[in-house]
Amino acid sequence: MPRLSKRVLSLQESAIRKLDATTRARTHVHFHRVNIGQPDVPTPAPLIDAIRGFQPRVLGYGQASGEPACREAAATYHRRWCPELEASHVAVTTGGSEALLFAFTVACDPGDVLLAPEPYYTNYNGFASICGASIRPLRTHLSQGFALPSDQELDAAVDERVKGLVVANPGNPTGAVYGRSELQRLVNWALRHRKLLIVDEVYRQIWLDEAPCSILEFPEAAEVAICVDSLSKTWSACGLRLGFLISRNALLMEKVERLGQARLGPQPLAQHIGMAALTLPESVYEDQRELYRERVNVLVDGLSAIDGVEVSRPRGAFYLMARLPVEDTEAFARYLAADFEHEGESFVVAPGSGFYADPGRGRDEVRLAAVLQPEVLHRVAQLMETALSRYRNL
Ligand SMILES: Cc1ncc(COP(=O)(O)O)c(C=O)c1O
Repeated sequence: MPRLSKRVLSLQESAIRKLDATTRARTHVHFHRVNIGQPDVPTPAPLIDAIRGFQPRVLGYGQASGEPACREAAATYHRRWCPELEASHVAVTTGGSEALLFAFTVACDPGDVLLAPEPYYTNYNGFASICGASIRPLRTHLSQGFALPSDQELDAAVDERVKGLVVANPGNPTGAVYGRSELQRLVNWALRHRKLLIVDEVYRQIWLDEAPCSILEFPEAAEVAICVDSLSKTWSACGLRLGFLISRNALLMEKVERLGQARLGPQPLAQHIGMAALTLPESVYEDQRELYRERVNVLVDGLSAIDGVEVSRPRGAFYLMARLPVEDTEAFARYLAADFEHEGESFVVAPGSGFYADPGRGRDEVRLAAVLQPEVLHRVAQLMETALSRYRNL
């Protein structure tokens, strides 16, 4: 048996997908999937219509950093936050995921470290492992609304292995939304220490109270900032696999172009559809926000009413972390997937520990995604109450 690389052997199994096989085997149970950020919201019609308008004679390779028209459309869209943005500042990628992988690759050599406020999007671990790097967590707390670490803590975390900091705004799994003063602190930190600041803004348009501040809004961060965006969530187009890496650092973009050359170009059909998405009227985003406000409220209200459950109300994205009155939510999630059923229904949750660097943490937390119809989310909260009471009596 040939030896596989330490990097792949160290890859974590996705906490979110772990329970899939178990639930698929129980065909008589209807599972409500609140474990993954896959909205059931119909993709806007202009995106579907654009598929019909794509009739190439040859499905050829495109340019490494994306088609010029798609890069220009993305730059125009992002000028809302950065009026001086140009098409050359945008690289088109296969989802936000590839943009993150490229960002981590330009930032890190093997052995290097990226800081990340914890809990964080679990795939950051995977992207870091692929680069031979790792994530060093900076703790934030549910009870404090996941506020960012203080300047002192940020400074103290820096050593020669740290190459930057990655943060999602709005946050997954936290639902935290960071405003201007918090982003300014991160920008100052990056400038003070000459580190990269990778800001994952794939949920930027999905905020519930106040809009997040974009990293693109800071002219002084041009050299240190990388912004990641994606069409997956805002446009309910997860399967499109279209995203963007945006930076005003010319050398960095030259290297991103080389990474793009190595995998040839991003998908032409996706770019064609993406251009239709990026020119939709502002009302589309407001409609999405309204829709998620209702869904999040239903889920928060339903869960908060359960004895012993503590919920942090998200301010953006569509996830929430809930603390449950159980010792180990991995075991509880397995119980939901493998044993629990009420009137033919069950639901799937993502155990909290998957969002922490140290799997000993977040063991009484779960992440839920308010991506289903409000009445289904109401039902999920009812099922949670039933499941918790049965589980505790086992
Ligand atoms: C915080 C965050 N970043 C990036 C992604 C990747 O999204 P995609 O590759 O679909 O654009 C996700 C997906 O759930 C996410 O939650």
